Amino acid sequence: MKKNNLKLNLTYNSNLVKKHYEDYPYPQYPLVSSIRKIDTYSLNVYSLWSYFNCKILRVRPNILLAGSGSFSPYPTAIANNDAEKIWALDLSKKNLRRARLHCFLHGIFLKVKYLEEDLLNFNYKKSFFHFIDCYGVIHHISNDKKALKNIHDLLVDDGIARIMVYSKGARSKIESVRRAFKLLKINKLWMIKKLMAKAQKKKINNNREYQFLELIENNYEANFDSGIADMFLHPYAKTYSIEQLITLIDECSLVTLRFTHNGAITDTTNEIERLKILQKEKKLFTNFILFVGKKKIDKIDKINKIDEKEYKSKLETYISLNPIIKKYLKFWSPFPQTIANKFFTNKFAYNLNLNYQQKKLLAHFKIAKKRNELELDKSCEEYEKISTFLDSLMLIEYTKDM
Ligand SMILES: C[S@@+](CC[C@H](N)C(=O)[O-])C[C@H]1O[C@@H](n2cnc3c(N)ncnc32)[C@H](O)[C@@H]1O
Repeated sequence: MKKNNLKLNLTYNSNLVKKHYEDYPYPQYPLVSSIRKIDTYSLNVYSLWSYFNCKILRVRPNILLAGSGSFSPYPTAIANNDAEKIWALDLSKKNLRRARLHCFLHGIFLKVKYLEEDLLNFNYKKSFFHFIDCYGVIHHISNDKKALKNIHDLLVDDGIARIMVYSKGARSKIESVRRAFKLLKINKLWMIKKLMAKAQKKKINNNREYQFLELIENNYEANFDSGIADMFLHPYAKTYSIEQLITLIDECSLVTLRFTHNGAITDTTNEIERLKILQKEKKLFTNFILFVGKKKIDKIDKINKIDEKEYKSKLETYISLNPIIKKYLKFWSPFPQTIANKFFTNKFAYNLNLNYQQKKLLAHFKIAKKRNELELDKSCEEYEKISTFLDSLMLIEYTKDM
């Protein structure tokens, strides 16, 4: 039988998805896992707002973690001390309990509201949330259009949502293994762990087993039980081509603002083209991570009609430090300071290792500076560095009068 004919024949049942996460709460971080505040700088909603809307958010934001899992309320709360409320919504009671306990143990008590509910049925208030994080969730819902439309409706007009979905390219090997496991009736965690142990002891008999070993060795998720279960035992996980994803976003009246998976380029149109090529050449190994906003005439105008940088250059904008960076970067130490960069850009490696010169440049923006009054030669290295910092959200740019 041809490999392609072996479909997983997934049938969606939200009770099965719920049961999966009750059995395997995800992710599986120890309760003592803590995060430095500075590493959460790219989750700060005031900064995201400036980045995507080029203006200051003047209210305390409401944030929704749609499919929060057992951990994300904690870093989101750390990054958004000034939020009005963070709503952690999840199908799974166990995930929410774990998230609550994690927050509680790290001193976060009232900021987060926990809701055991299906995203498809959640219709608290239209146009209410300033930021919705829906990371690794949409591909586990069969009516993905309804889920994304709901996200659209829940967002305020200039609201921003981050989504992560599985790409066909990144998941192809995992999907092959899932198909094989289904045929061989390997459907328990202990069975998979036994196979993994065998492969890791290099007791390999054939090419298939070698590919399995390669897959688990190169996949971070294979290091913990709920990750293994998520990879191979999930009752419902679909994958997207870039074309399918773009169509879905468009049909839900959303617009892609920026991709932030590893290696993504800032310009959305170019990034889509790059992804199409990688996909065609079977070299696409990342899942899709992107920020989306509500489709609006003026936003389309901004993106299509004029180049965003040109648009910003016509406004009187200010540049200042991301508030989290401002508070927690040790500017005056001569030693490099390492920060985990979650707002990926091509120009920075995963961890930002800021040297003295870079910190000195950033310190310049402790007090907001007018862009037009920056005394920098456009061709000089410093100018280039500032755009890199803006690109990575360490610096933010906004107008005061919009
Ligand atoms: C892979 S986990 C991701 C968790 C978290 N977003 C993160 O990135 O760590 C998917 C989560 O989505 C939740 N989920 C799946 N379908 C859902 C639905 N229809 N409504 C609400 N939550 C859902 C699951 O319970 C699970 O906690």
